Amino acid sequence: MKNFPLESAMADVAPVHSGLKSKTTVQHLREVKEDFLTPRRSTRSSELLGQVQRLISKMRVAVIYGGDKTCEGSVIYQTHNPRSWKSYETVAADIKNSLERAGCQNVVLLPDDMNLGERLREHGIEMAWLNTGGVQGYCAVSHAAATLEMLGVPYVGHEPLSAGILDSKHVFKRQLAGAGVPTARFITWHGAQGPLNTGPDSHFSEVFESYEGPFIVKPVSGRASLNVEFAPDHYCVEQLAAAVFEKTENHVLIEQYLGGKEYCVAICGPTIMRDGALDRLDRPFTFAHVERVLADDERIFTSMDQKPITGDRVRAMDPEKESDVIAELDHLAQMTFQQLDLETLIRLDVRADEKGRLYILEANPKPDLKAPQQDGVTSLIVEGLLNAGMSYDDLIFSLLADRIDVLFSKRRGSANPLINLLTHCEG
Ligand SMILES: Nc1ncnc2c1ncn2[C@@H]1O[C@H](COP(=O)(O)OP(=O)(O)OP(=O)(O)O)[C@@H](O)[C@H]1O
Ligand SMILES: [Mg+2]
Repeated sequence: MKNFPLESAMADVAPVHSGLKSKTTVQHLREVKEDFLTPRRSTRSSELLGQVQRLISKMRVAVIYGGDKTCEGSVIYQTHNPRSWKSYETVAADIKNSLERAGCQNVVLLPDDMNLGERLREHGIEMAWLNTGGVQGYCAVSHAAATLEMLGVPYVGHEPLSAGILDSKHVFKRQLAGAGVPTARFITWHGAQGPLNTGPDSHFSEVFESYEGPFIVKPVSGRASLNVEFAPDHYCVEQLAAAVFEKTENHVLIEQYLGGKEYCVAICGPTIMRDGALDRLDRPFTFAHVERVLADDERIFTSMDQKPITGDRVRAMDPEKESDVIAELDHLAQMTFQQLDLETLIRLDVRADEKGRLYILEANPKPDLKAPQQDGVTSLIVEGLLNAGMSYDDLIFSLLADRIDVLFSKRRGSANPLINLLTHCEG
């Protein structure tokens, strides 16, 4: 019988399955936990490269950006956006251009709105790339992923549940706390509960105990440091929380202020393109370790909407001189990726306290993937890519290849359009 690509992919991973039978589950789990290994996927990078290249030349791809609710016909009724809206269309175009440089011949940009399903059908889309924060409503970052799941179109992006958790800072922080990953102590408050009580015997004083401030008051779902406020003491917290609630109509997060250095680290799946070859690491890939350089009087990193991110505001970390901090960032990132069972790129924002201990501030499920610009404007991820020996195009190819690999090795039932394409290529 002819060996179709997917079947041969499965043949490659079969020994791992049969190996499992001879081990106890506990032994197997211990090995996976100890090493963050990805054993099912660890052997077939050259075959995967062939599969990805065959798919790239054939598949019809849509890069999806945030639809605008004010455009005629985009929604039935306009509703409130708890998270400040942005289209991300320019970055979607950067991703499209990169996919075209990699050999994709059929790439379109589509807005994420109520016509998405029909447009995907019209264009015969076999693979999508989600670069959208949603159109409107709560948990909007998960809407496109949920729609694609329902329509059966495979995509590069987080599954809806993960996208929703990652974009809800309070839910994400509870996951971290449950998994023993350090994050600043916090409470949430919603205006419908009545005025926030920070007095004795309140939930606030139970959580913060003798800590008297400063605090950070911020939306549970936000972007670009918008509506993130510094509160020197608990008196200011009440007022600021009410103001943030007024703007967002959503839960407000109140947490301990961390006054040390601020860092970012990115993590994605283990398949990466580097030096012209596809490599399969034995654990998820961490990269783009940067320090967000704060000015002396800057308590909150200024929004990119107010001040573009340039090389002097973001410093790639020195792998030799700062190896200890880098190792700690890697550990936080690996713990998060593994404990939340993530499958594709996130960027973690991390901040130190006065003693230099690191805490995760938040995870960005759709970090900015702006291509490098002539004028020096950059993104946190691209600024840190050089240390990893990768170009922007390497990163885009890696994210695509890794996703195809996850679909083939872990979610075969969700990859039908791609399996059909590969079968036709072979036939
Ligand atoms: N607990 C905290 N202690 C100290 N600084 C904080 C804290 N929480 C947030 N900040 C500051 O506010 C900035 C924005 O916060 P956060 O990352 O949670 O929000 P965001 O709007 O999602 O940010 P972005 O999308 O720009 O990454 C952080 O980069 C940091 O400078
Ligand atoms: Mg942030």
